[in-house]
Amino acid sequence: MFKLKSILLFFWITLLPHAGAQIAGAQEAYVRNPVISSAVWDHVQPYLLPPDHPIKPKLDRIFKKGVLTDAESLRKAGFKFKLRRDRFMIIAGHRDLKGYVLKLYVDKQKLREGEWLQWIKRIEGADRIRTSIESNSFGHFMKVPQKWIYPLPSQAVAKPAGDCFPKFFVLVAEKMDIVTHGKNRAKYRFMMHEELLEALFVVMKENLLIDSMFLDNIPFCKDHRIAFVDTEHSNTRIKPMPYEQMLNHLSPKMRKFWKTLIVNK
Ligand SMILES: Nc1ncnc2c1ncn2[C@@H]1O[C@H](COP(=O)(O)OP(=O)(O)O)[C@@H](O)[C@H]1O
Ligand SMILES: [Mg+2]
Repeated sequence: MFKLKSILLFFWITLLPHAGAQIAGAQEAYVRNPVISSAVWDHVQPYLLPPDHPIKPKLDRIFKKGVLTDAESLRKAGFKFKLRRDRFMIIAGHRDLKGYVLKLYVDKQKLREGEWLQWIKRIEGADRIRTSIESNSFGHFMKVPQKWIYPLPSQAVAKPAGDCFPKFFVLVAEKMDIVTHGKNRAKYRFMMHEELLEALFVVMKENLLIDSMFLDNIPFCKDHRIAFVDTEHSNTRIKPMPYEQMLNHLSPKMRKFWKTLIVNK
């Protein structure tokens, strides 16, 4: 009897913690930070990074208290990024997040609206462009990164104060293998051809991409495809499509062809 009891005790002690860990692992979905309203939480649900995505545990490890305070704290946490103007979004990479970039605002930056509204716009823009690329079978010419919202763990969210405007969400995007700024300009000028330019026109027109006439928003990648990396503005009628801007980037022959495309826009 004593022997049976010790065997049972042995299994209880050695196996139970593992079973517990497995159950916890399977259920590791996001928990709403009580300071986020249920309305906002419900709104972001369809856009969240799947909880079983391989980079989710890495993000959980990176985002500790104070990481989003300012540019300096972000660098201390291992993020690499170029400083832009104060009010601009930060695009940051991290050695533990290979293949992805984060788009984010730090707590020092005061925004006009919740950052999640901008992330949703960018995700919806990317989804629209993806649908367009697929329905026109343009996948050999162009691509668009997958994007998701990652909600910061509650303990990583700051308390509001005079110069602290806490952020709750960051945008995760697949990193595109884009060529340098100079190479990109050269590719638009010298490597563009009619079939590709027409495909670009169709996707821009179908989705009213008013900001995609800037080459930094539609860079070529090392696989020679064009990536739509800036998807903030799509289907927007706040101003007409600035098609003429594209003329600045093309060779005389392609300029002529672009004009034939945009004549009946
Ligand atoms: N998914 C991505 N992969 C690689 N580089 C990116 C990606 N998204 C943005 N970038 C780089 O960051 C720059 C700024 O990003 P963007 O989304 O255009 O920000 P903004 O809306 O402030 O212009 C891009 O021009 C590009 O060089
Ligand atoms: Mg841009």
